[in-house]
Amino acid sequence: MHKHHSALGLATALRPVQPVTLLRPHAAQRAARFFVEKFPGRSLYAVKANPSPDLLQILWDSGITHYDVASIAEVRLVARTLPEAELCFMHPVKAEEAIAEAYFTHGVKTFSLDTMEELEKIQRATRHASDLTLAVRLRVSSDHSKLSLAAKFGADPAEVSQLLFAARQAADTLGICFHVGSQAMTPQAYVEAMERVRQAIVQAAVTVDLVDVGGGFPSIYPGMEPPALEAYFSAIHDAFESLPISYSAELWCEPGRALCAEYASLLVRVERRRGDELYINDGAYGALFDAAHVGWRFPVNLIREDESETRDMAFSFYGPTCDDLDHMAGPFMLPADTQAGDYIEIGMLGAYGCAMRTGFNGFGETEVSIVEDEPMASLYLEDEAEAPVRKPGTVVSIKRL
Ligand SMILES: Cc1ncc(COP(=O)(O)O)c(C=O)c1O
Repeated sequence: MHKHHSALGLATALRPVQPVTLLRPHAAQRAARFFVEKFPGRSLYAVKANPSPDLLQILWDSGITHYDVASIAEVRLVARTLPEAELCFMHPVKAEEAIAEAYFTHGVKTFSLDTMEELEKIQRATRHASDLTLAVRLRVSSDHSKLSLAAKFGADPAEVSQLLFAARQAADTLGICFHVGSQAMTPQAYVEAMERVRQAIVQAAVTVDLVDVGGGFPSIYPGMEPPALEAYFSAIHDAFESLPISYSAELWCEPGRALCAEYASLLVRVERRRGDELYINDGAYGALFDAAHVGWRFPVNLIREDESETRDMAFSFYGPTCDDLDHMAGPFMLPADTQAGDYIEIGMLGAYGCAMRTGFNGFGETEVSIVEDEPMASLYLEDEAEAPVRKPGTVVSIKRL
């Protein structure tokens, strides 16, 4: 294992040709502890956000015992990596074979659904098991979130009562779940969704044992600075307390982004500069899918031995493939003298970024290093004094895996 004092040290010593994924296990651990200790219920990790086995182990070691899985491959992965973990299959549209394997081979008992067909499918696939937790997914607004999840899933409002009633007959534990959309910028998103839950319970007149508020908890990115997570937790707690549910009902959440965004960043090399466009060695088909396709702005730092004395200017990025779509509009603010051969650290890529990497066009290979410094931004550092100050060239310690 090589050791370096800093991202700069790594860049200078190795001059890496491939992008390098910089992992911060301590950041993922801190986020998990935060949810375990402060969320007023149970926190499941949404594996979709980053299925790395190393990360799964870190979260497990930090107290996350339940995992929201969305495919049979995720079921198998988590069952293999964390044999004692509780798996919850929260994709509302599943293959019947996947449900059967999840239930009979991997002991999965919790499933979400948003139609009568899915309910019947779950019953058939589990041979009418009597120990199921069934969570009916409501369609709620994504108006307060940066990425909508309002179109694809969620029971038709006209069918919610009938579905809750039928699921009540089939379930040992009946739940209601929803997703307010990813990167919800205000706790109000959950307050409004909980009002939908309240209406659904009243209209169906069923006993609900579990309310799962889904994911959507934010991270910090340029131009997206959410309120403290405690404000979300307290709004959810108050809304939950006012629901017409039994005293013993459970509250769950399924954060993906919030648990792992700070876990990873990426060190990339500039291969060419054309005016205000930088051609870098990772892009839309690598870890920067969201930067390309939904205009997500990630924080960036120039990693150069002598700090630049030029002012920042707005750049856009091109990724490495022979493809015009491999373009990230940004703007990414970097010193005006940034040029070919420079290294840039792109932050907050632990959620979704790293998980979506492909091998398209022969690119996609990365090296991986652990670093011990703080992420470029954090929702989990207690006070200002601890908040990361990441100037180019800041000394950090890096271990090579
Ligand atoms: C069912 C479900 N739960 C949780 C999540 C995690 O969401 P987020 O990363 O916004 O917390 C997702 C993401 O799409 C999801 O589909």
